[in-house]
Amino acid sequence: MYAINNNKIPNNVNLDSDPRLKRALEHWQPDFIRWWGAMGPEGFSQAEIYLRTAIGVDAQGWAFYDHVRMPEYRWGIFLAPPEPERLIKFGDDIGRKTWSEVPGEHRFALRRLIVTQADTEPASVEQQRLLGLCCPSLYDLRNLFQVNVEEGRHLWAMVYLLHSYFGRDGRDEADELLARRSGNSDNPRILNTFNEAIEDWLSFFMFTTFTDRDGKFQLLALAESSFDPLARTCKFMLTEEAHHLFVGQTGVQRVIRRSCELMNEHDTDDIGRFGGINLALLQKYINYWYSSSLDLFGSEISSNAANYFAAGLKGRAYEEKLFKEHRACGQTYAVELMINGQLTTKDITLRSAMNEVLRDAYTRDCEKALEKWNKEVLEHHINFTFELPHRRFNRSVGEYANWHFDPKGLLLDTQQWHERQKNWLPTTHERQFIKSLMKPVTKPGLMAGWIAPPHKGINGQALDFSYVRLS
Ligand SMILES: [Fe+2]
Ligand SMILES: [Fe+2]
Repeated sequence: MYAINNNKIPNNVNLDSDPRLKRALEHWQPDFIRWWGAMGPEGFSQAEIYLRTAIGVDAQGWAFYDHVRMPEYRWGIFLAPPEPERLIKFGDDIGRKTWSEVPGEHRFALRRLIVTQADTEPASVEQQRLLGLCCPSLYDLRNLFQVNVEEGRHLWAMVYLLHSYFGRDGRDEADELLARRSGNSDNPRILNTFNEAIEDWLSFFMFTTFTDRDGKFQLLALAESSFDPLARTCKFMLTEEAHHLFVGQTGVQRVIRRSCELMNEHDTDDIGRFGGINLALLQKYINYWYSSSLDLFGSEISSNAANYFAAGLKGRAYEEKLFKEHRACGQTYAVELMINGQLTTKDITLRSAMNEVLRDAYTRDCEKALEKWNKEVLEHHINFTFELPHRRFNRSVGEYANWHFDPKGLLLDTQQWHERQKNWLPTTHERQFIKSLMKPVTKPGLMAGWIAPPHKGINGQALDFSYVRLS
């Protein structure tokens, strides 16, 4: 195991040159450790876990692997290197110099954007805190903890911004991030998807496929920000986020592979009694987590989104690469709105449709994940295709929230919805079945019966490597 160095908070932001900030963060650190102890992964504080730790932002520095106990993980503060003379890329102030401090007029909006992003990081750790106790393998247990410690580091990254640039208000917000609790009705997390309990590994793999992917697109949009420290922070977080998406994508794919093997072996679609998960039930989990994650992008028409874009606070994903024009003025976007109970296509200003533009990019990325899953099914010569439900399906935020639609996007009345939703979303009984499969497997190299092994190990290690040394 590596030795913890003298530097209490590893960083590449020259923390030693700013004693006030350093003191403030060192003051927050014990509260974070207490929060981790109370709300972080349950039951593995003494286990030694083969984790990747960021100790710098260069190729060697950000992927340092060793066995480490989670409470001793070094949550550091790292920003991607600055681009010299970076100019504002979009909005009304395009071409001007980016900001190294928060402009007074954007203080409130930027704080809100940062706090909303920051709140999701500890929330997901809280949601997943019991999963370790029913892990399908040590390989998966290690991946869960890798995701957890990195979400902890993302919280650190956001708290650094709050402490550095938002004075007293920022410090208060940083304290609040440790006070809210996922699923707590008195003091819940800000966004609803992050208040849903994740008590089984199928939900974890769906969450890391669909909800972490929302995180990816929010970070891509914030990585375009004219507020340079925010842009650089998000850029570095994206390198870690890629692993979370990998865990989700390959996790679901391994479940599919195992299901297909059982289907072929027993010549039936109904593999529940052989300890597998039916493809139709997997589709229901896709419907649930994809629709819940779509809500995270916000309303179809949003004056906040328009203002954020105009002010250069939050751009579009891959703003420079994908778009020729970066002011988004005088352009329209066609959305389908519910007017007098009817779906009606309306052109709205492009700026006020920025949530929808980001949601489009997200959906395209989700489709790629499904393509890989469908390829897996095809390789087993099974006739089944996973599909994303329509974006109107099962929404709780925005235009479609007060209406019911089927997975193809067709309008239903309330009675039809209540009769049919069991065909599209996991029922209580089905959730219980999934939970009944969750029995811990903790021998190196062994795998639970409902999931296939991965094709390869982490960082070139064998599958039977001791990814977690239980004490
Ligand atoms: Fe994160
Ligand atoms: Fe993540």
